[in-house]
Amino acid sequence: MRPARAVDLKRQRADCELNGAAMSEETTTCRRLLGKVVLITAATAGIGLGIALRLGQEGAKLAICSRKQANVDATLKQLRSRGIEAVGCAANVGKRADLEAFVQLAVDTYSRIDILVSNAAVNPATGDVLEIPDWAIDKILDVNIKAAIVLAALVKPHLSKAGNIVFISSYTAYVPTRPIALYGMSKTALLGLTKALAEELGPEGIRVNCVAPGTVPTKFAAALVESDEMRKLNESRTFLGRLGTPREIAAAVAFLVSEDASYVTGETLLVGGGMHAKL
Ligand SMILES: NC(=O)c1ccc[n+]([C@@H]2O[C@H](COP(=O)([O-])OP(=O)(O)OC[C@H]3O[C@@H](n4cnc5c(N)ncnc54)[C@H](OP(=O)(O)O)[C@@H]3O)[C@@H](O)[C@H]2O)c1
Repeated sequence: MRPARAVDLKRQRADCELNGAAMSEETTTCRRLLGKVVLITAATAGIGLGIALRLGQEGAKLAICSRKQANVDATLKQLRSRGIEAVGCAANVGKRADLEAFVQLAVDTYSRIDILVSNAAVNPATGDVLEIPDWAIDKILDVNIKAAIVLAALVKPHLSKAGNIVFISSYTAYVPTRPIALYGMSKTALLGLTKALAEELGPEGIRVNCVAPGTVPTKFAAALVESDEMRKLNESRTFLGRLGTPREIAAAVAFLVSEDASYVTGETLLVGGGMHAKL
């Protein structure tokens, strides 16, 4: 998906600001998560930030992270200014020690965790699968798959009864096509992880689900909408004829982590405007 070309970043930024504005205007009356403690990775921009805002608006207490302390600080300020209780720290999900410190911060602050939203992912290289260099294969597998497993394992001992986990996958999980097929395959693995953990943790009452977003114009997806041509192509792949917003992905996550989804586990919800991705 990266790198983006400068010429189209202007439009990107406008889109993101629009999405951000839409999110900040949003006042959901739902309070399904009152008092719930939610851990969200990569929550300082794009879809992760949208999830933090939505779950916070529904009454959740948050622990957030991303790699850069400045981003964490700015996001905590933004959340708290909206009356949302939140703590956070700089953490690269690819580093176990960072994940341990992040989980510890949440436990020290709130004494338990009710919900984990594993959202972080990277796509450091594009191209045909067999052309991707080893370092990039390692990074994609480490951050997109291994970190999700390690984080779930670290969170598990602190998960409350009837706690739950949501992994953020992608529509590309269903159709891992060039030039981002390796990234797509890493997202396919999350569908499998969701099924596997749903079975393993089900007897303890812990639900595990997954959300697969369609194309959402964030920094991460900049290359997919960098030109009018690319943007129109991606829009035309949906039944609704438009791209998604972080707010729309966050609404699906809010449903899955809430008691409204109390009998839903092992599922992946594709939020892609009707994008053809599965039967
Ligand atoms: N946008 C789309 O079209 C789309 C479609 C399908 C799926 N997704 C998935 O949605 C998720 C979020 O993507 P997005 O589009 O919202 O991206 P984004 O807007 O570019 O935001 C990325 C966020 O991740 C943080 N981050 C990046 N690497 C990290 C790491 N190693 N550890 C911790 N935090 C990290 C960034 O903050 P720092 O720079 O401070 O680390 C930032 O907060 C990803 O799993 C992506 O695969 C996106």
